[in-house]
Amino acid sequence: MSYISAVKRLIHNKKAYVRTFGCQLNENDGEKLQGLLSAMGYSLTEDPEEADFALLNTCAIRENAEKKTFGAIGVFKHYKEKNPGLVVAMSGCMTGEPHVLERLKTVYRHVDIVFGANNIEALPRLLFQHLTENRRVFDTDYDETVVTENIPTLHASSFKAGVPVMYGCNNFCTYCIVPYVRGRERSRNTEDILKEVRSLRESGYKEIMLLGQNVNSYMGGGEAFAALLEKVSDTGIERIRFMTSHPKDLNPQVLRVMAERDNICKCLHLPVQSGNNRVLASMNRRYTREKYLSIVEYARELMPDLSITTDIIVGFPGETTAEFEDTLSLLETVRYDAIFSFIFSPRKGTPAEKMKDVLTEKEKKANFERLLEVQNRISGEINKTYLGKVYRVLCEGTSKTDPFMMTGRTEGGKIVNFKGDASFVGQFADVKITETKTWNLQGEAICR
Ligand code: 5AD
Ligand code: SF4
Repeated sequence: MSYISAVKRLIHNKKAYVRTFGCQLNENDGEKLQGLLSAMGYSLTEDPEEADFALLNTCAIRENAEKKTFGAIGVFKHYKEKNPGLVVAMSGCMTGEPHVLERLKTVYRHVDIVFGANNIEALPRLLFQHLTENRRVFDTDYDETVVTENIPTLHASSFKAGVPVMYGCNNFCTYCIVPYVRGRERSRNTEDILKEVRSLRESGYKEIMLLGQNVNSYMGGGEAFAALLEKVSDTGIERIRFMTSHPKDLNPQVLRVMAERDNICKCLHLPVQSGNNRVLASMNRRYTREKYLSIVEYARELMPDLSITTDIIVGFPGETTAEFEDTLSLLETVRYDAIFSFIFSPRKGTPAEKMKDVLTEKEKKANFERLLEVQNRISGEINKTYLGKVYRVLCEGTSKTDPFMMTGRTEGGKIVNFKGDASFVGQFADVKITETKTWNLQGEAICR
């Protein structure tokens, strides 16, 4: 890390701007990139116009994420015209796509530094090279067998944090770009994870989210995810969440550990993607609707109050409306607390990109609307059962529109708004639910 001090000697009074797109793993990378920049002597700013260094940490999961990023990167051309000393950098999943790299090299020539989601620790070296050699530097190479530890991190929150446990994905679902841009699965050592969790707890953190594209295939030093969960629970940190779990790898032992341990939230994100077996096979998900439902049934047997959420793709190539209706009926059977739904977006180089559609975009959109309608009703019905009950809420912040309205989450991940003041932030409060809506709950704090 000597490049950190080398850059520190080169820059004085400089400001850095970092914008992260996408998932929690990318957010965690963004916190590390901010940590590196801060260690190099930059102060961080939220205003891109006053920045001397600007970094876009990108997401490639769907077409619209990429469109947004190219829009954002274009704006920096104007900022650079006003401030020629501005250094523009790009990292994250998009830089792992060959066609994006080519476009950056040839069209977006105001981008000075490009690196990947798998070599964020290269930033100080690349910045040093750029500043001293005054040339564009591109480096997205990485060693798939190595997990770099001890990268300085600047967390966005002082009470909840993401903790990566594994990187990459080996599943190659046919629609997904992640295995191509994030590479093969590799796990952190259990001891490194525990050290990080203990240190977060000692610094006053209340909640952690164990992160990985597929946490259930965690294998750190021969230990599986259930064993890791037990050890993380033993640290005594107050709330533990984890995501994402692939249904084909969710070991029943993980559910048993969840059920036994008070500090593991009774909250499971279990992406199903489709309720139809032919579509699931075409997506290469390697489980059936029946297998999925049997996991849900067992999980609820162990934890009757478990909150379950999922991801769904509508309009996968070849999906008919009759097949889509199997997804609707699955929603009725499982009764998810919430769903994250997406219209299929073809990604370059994935098998699904070449698959043929049977539905038009209009028909897909209509199915998507039907899905939302069904889920909104179910979420609303589930939320009604919260009325009059008291829940322990971790207060996460103040409402954007009312400084005396606080917002927090229950163990199951439901958003609760209640009256209070800034002293609640980062603290637990017992909140009695007085009103329920489709997306959130209203309540009154009765004690803290
Ligand atoms: N199109 C639409 N949605 C996608 N997802 C992943 N790839 C695509 C794609 N090509 C969704 C899946 C996944 C979530 C993170 O994003 O539902 O679980
Ligand atoms: Fe993508 Fe499937 Fe891996 Fe999830 S499990 S990151 S959807 S390939």
